[in-house]
Amino acid sequence: MAEARLIDGKAAAARLRAGVATAAAALKAAHGVAPGLAAVLVGDDPASQVYVKSKTKATDDAGLKGLTHRLSAATSEAELLRVVAQLNADDAVDGILVQLPLPKQIDAQRVIEAIHPAKDVDGFHPENVGRLWSGGRALVPCTPYGCLLLARESLGPKLAGTEAVVVGRSNIVGKPMAALLLGEHCTVTVAHSRTRDLPAVARRADLLIAAVGRPEMVRGDWIKPGATVIDVGINRIAAAEGKSRLVGDVAFAEARQIAGAITPVPGGVGPMTIACLLRNTLLAACRRRRLAEPAL
Ligand code: GUN
Repeated sequence: MAEARLIDGKAAAARLRAGVATAAAALKAAHGVAPGLAAVLVGDDPASQVYVKSKTKATDDAGLKGLTHRLSAATSEAELLRVVAQLNADDAVDGILVQLPLPKQIDAQRVIEAIHPAKDVDGFHPENVGRLWSGGRALVPCTPYGCLLLARESLGPKLAGTEAVVVGRSNIVGKPMAALLLGEHCTVTVAHSRTRDLPAVARRADLLIAAVGRPEMVRGDWIKPGATVIDVGINRIAAAEGKSRLVGDVAFAEARQIAGAITPVPGGVGPMTIACLLRNTLLAACRRRRLAEPAL
């Protein structure tokens, strides 16, 4: 069988970012509005620092205003809630993103619930979660939305009715992914670490989304021949000569021999997440002001 086609997340993300930049320029010209995104980083987790830096740069590149609030690892929950309250009240801020994970003295759910739902560009607030599941106008979590765009690109009209398996049940990816795929008329199974015979369940999928956070856990023989595979994992593992490299949740070299289409790591889902965050910030800015939303 031929090797799987690569799904180019970098190119798809560049197209979405360009669309956001065009819409942001039009918003500025027509209404003098520059959407603002406030990222809050608590502590010095190296991966979170990299994410927040690249988010802020992408924000500026798209013509949005990016602000980063850096707080020490010792920040109390009350202090963080005060920062969130300030950002809720600041009219220049359209989107608020508190980078997860948070230090252990802080209850992340309490912080998420303190963010104004109209500014919740992560889509984690219960109001947005409820709207996503009930078909309302939600702000949708960025990583699963990016996966959905890639799945649409790969499957086109065949996405409706597709047998989809999501491996992973996190609030950030697995659960919202299931809601989005249901919205596209897929038949959805959410599998996880306690699923009996996980490889056999995964093999049912014509669309397999791997979001487990374990390097190369999904093997080639978990994949139905010809399936579309979307790999959400970004795992740094040790490589030769004391170096490290990034791998996904899917054993790429094996999977590529079996799948019909697959996202690479890096260059697949990762760039889409940031592009979708910019899209959410722009949508939040329009909705808060009751302006027409661009079709993005
Ligand atoms: N940590 C890992 N992914 C995410 C995300 O999408 N949003 C936030 N806020 N933190 C994360």
